[in-house]
Amino acid sequence: MKTRIIGTGSCLPKTVMTNDDLSKYMDTSDEWISSRTGIRERHLAVEETTASMSIEAAKRAMENANVTAAEIDLIILGTVSGDFVTPACACEVQAAIGADRAVAFDINAACSGFMFALNIANAYIQAGLYRTALILGAETLSKIVDWEDRSTCVLFGDGAGAAVVRGDENCGMLSFDQGSDGAKGDVLACPGRANNNPLIKADQTPRYVHMDGQEVYKFAVTTVPASLQKTIEAAGLTPADIDYFALHQANIRIIQSVSKRLHVSDDKFPISLDHCGNISAASVPILLDEMNRKGLLKPGMRVALSGFGGGLTWASAVIEW
Ligand code: ACO
Repeated sequence: MKTRIIGTGSCLPKTVMTNDDLSKYMDTSDEWISSRTGIRERHLAVEETTASMSIEAAKRAMENANVTAAEIDLIILGTVSGDFVTPACACEVQAAIGADRAVAFDINAACSGFMFALNIANAYIQAGLYRTALILGAETLSKIVDWEDRSTCVLFGDGAGAAVVRGDENCGMLSFDQGSDGAKGDVLACPGRANNNPLIKADQTPRYVHMDGQEVYKFAVTTVPASLQKTIEAAGLTPADIDYFALHQANIRIIQSVSKRLHVSDDKFPISLDHCGNISAASVPILLDEMNRKGLLKPGMRVALSGFGGGLTWASAVIEW
């Protein structure tokens, strides 16, 4: 039994903020941002929430998969920017789509969140516990980045992506690799709220995402190709056998470095970061949905997916479409 992606969906907020628009709010430029990152614009939530975008992405994925809410056994949503601490965003999605039978929960694996959700769903499906799962990555990063820190806020955007997966005898996930390195957690972090119980005089200054960009870069360009190589070998394939690589969309330079290290042409690495920026857990499923809706993905094609980010965490998979 393999875990097969049978439908995809995504949702981006209506409001687009270009690099030139950003330069009206801070000392930056399209030249600085696009030359270092490949990002030209991102969508920012104004009326949208993490839940509202997730619900829309879920509905589109279910329609694409031709699956009804009653068929969904499991909903797993990767996010670091849910609207509530509780209930989980996955539970909000469950209620909105009416998937009454489903078990729903969120996970936090930062930019690897969708990939971790995929592997958890795979494990449940392999164990025979569930047949059909809705997996999502969704973020409103614009509420957790520091808009006074031009070195981070220009990198990120908001949005949600979803996929419906189901056990299938013939095709689906061929191999998987995932890992974590908590000792390097401070390289990319966002502290939560401080404790303000009566015994503590906590500093309640808002706490935002901070990162050591160059350390993140080093981590990504070593760990991601190694993880992909391992996953591709485990599927009995070589990088040349892979039709497309759908990577977390952090930075064009990271993606180009991975393509070089694997000796695979850039053309096999579709991009959404130019119009979305980095949307953490949402970036892989949004990219996958764009590829699916453009008709790039044909039955039998092999697609390698990889997410990497805060934790630190990483995860790759090879899927036969
Ligand atoms: N506009 C204009 N100038 C800026 C901006 C900006 N938005 N941000 C920083 N600068 C300036 C800095 O002040 C600094 O100026 P100085 O030399 O006068 O002090 C100069 O540009 C260089 O700043 P650095 O922070 O050193 O920039 P760097 O060259 O390292 O590039 C970047 C930053 C693009 C983020 C790089 O570190 C990188 O590619 N990192 C990879 C990791 C990544 O993309 N992370 C994204 C999220 S993590 C994830 O998803 C896994």
